[in-house]
Amino acid sequence: MRIIESLEEMREAAAELAAGRRSSGLVPTMGALHEGHLSLMRRSAGENGVTVVSIFVNPAQFSPEEDYDSYPRTWEEDLAAAKSAGVDIVFHPGAEQMYPPRSQTSVMVHGLTRGLCGMSRGQGHFRGVTTVVAKLFNLVRPTRAYFGQKDAQQAVVIQRMVLDLNFPVEIIVCPIVREDDGLAMSSRNRNLPPQYRPRALALRRALELGRKLIREGETDPYLLANAMGQRILMDSEIELDYLEIVSPETLEAVEKLDDLALIAGAVKIGGVRLIDNILVGPDGPWED
Ligand code: PAJ
Repeated sequence: MRIIESLEEMREAAAELAAGRRSSGLVPTMGALHEGHLSLMRRSAGENGVTVVSIFVNPAQFSPEEDYDSYPRTWEEDLAAAKSAGVDIVFHPGAEQMYPPRSQTSVMVHGLTRGLCGMSRGQGHFRGVTTVVAKLFNLVRPTRAYFGQKDAQQAVVIQRMVLDLNFPVEIIVCPIVREDDGLAMSSRNRNLPPQYRPRALALRRALELGRKLIREGETDPYLLANAMGQRILMDSEIELDYLEIVSPETLEAVEKLDDLALIAGAVKIGGVRLIDNILVGPDGPWED
């Protein structure tokens, strides 16, 4: 497995791959790798000649009051994990290279970033995500790029950007990987104080309640969101950021549950922000 830390070297490697007509898969990450990330890497390794994983804690997607400094960094473990998942290249650029001094350019997807995490974290978060992912696409020039359904809004926003800016890359969205008890894997889970770990399941439980109510025939999104929200707020130590039932394509609120819908939520527990979601439809749940 090769480790590339400079932009020039990454560009050269990408040019060699293109010249050799070898397909490449890119898995963008911020490190602190877990099974969720590894599932993306394995999928890419199975579908491409070469798999590139980027590890870059992207300062542009954190607002000043967010957890950039305390975001987990586990470089040595990450390398071993990436190697075991069949990764060929780890791209690990420095922030000063990715964001040259006095840089003034960003990539912004407008409508899709307004709600959900864009509402609670600010649209600047997604501006940071799309800007860095566009840079990575330019540097690595992958045939395919892999993203997790865990960050459902991010995946939709990236797909929009690829269409709008004509990036020649196929976006593959992979299912959510969970702990045995159902908690969606996340790098931020490492920062959960142990006494809060059992509470971290509250959002998942609320989503499961929503799914159960839908199975029993409930079609009113307002009643559903209410029941799920109340479930979370039963625990006074949990802050409910949002819980919404939206179209998985437009991310706009649905009026009635007569088509495929995305139930997405975010909570704060013990100072850590966790997100999760579930796809549901009139023909039953679409996940699990
Ligand atoms: P990060 O949170 O490190 O996630 C990297 C990729 O792994 C994302 O596509 C995310 O959706 C996916 N992922 C995370 N947890 C997962 C899980 N439990 N199951 C399946 N996939 C999971 O998302 C980012 O980094 C950044 O915003 C990034 C795209 C790298 C841009 O900086």
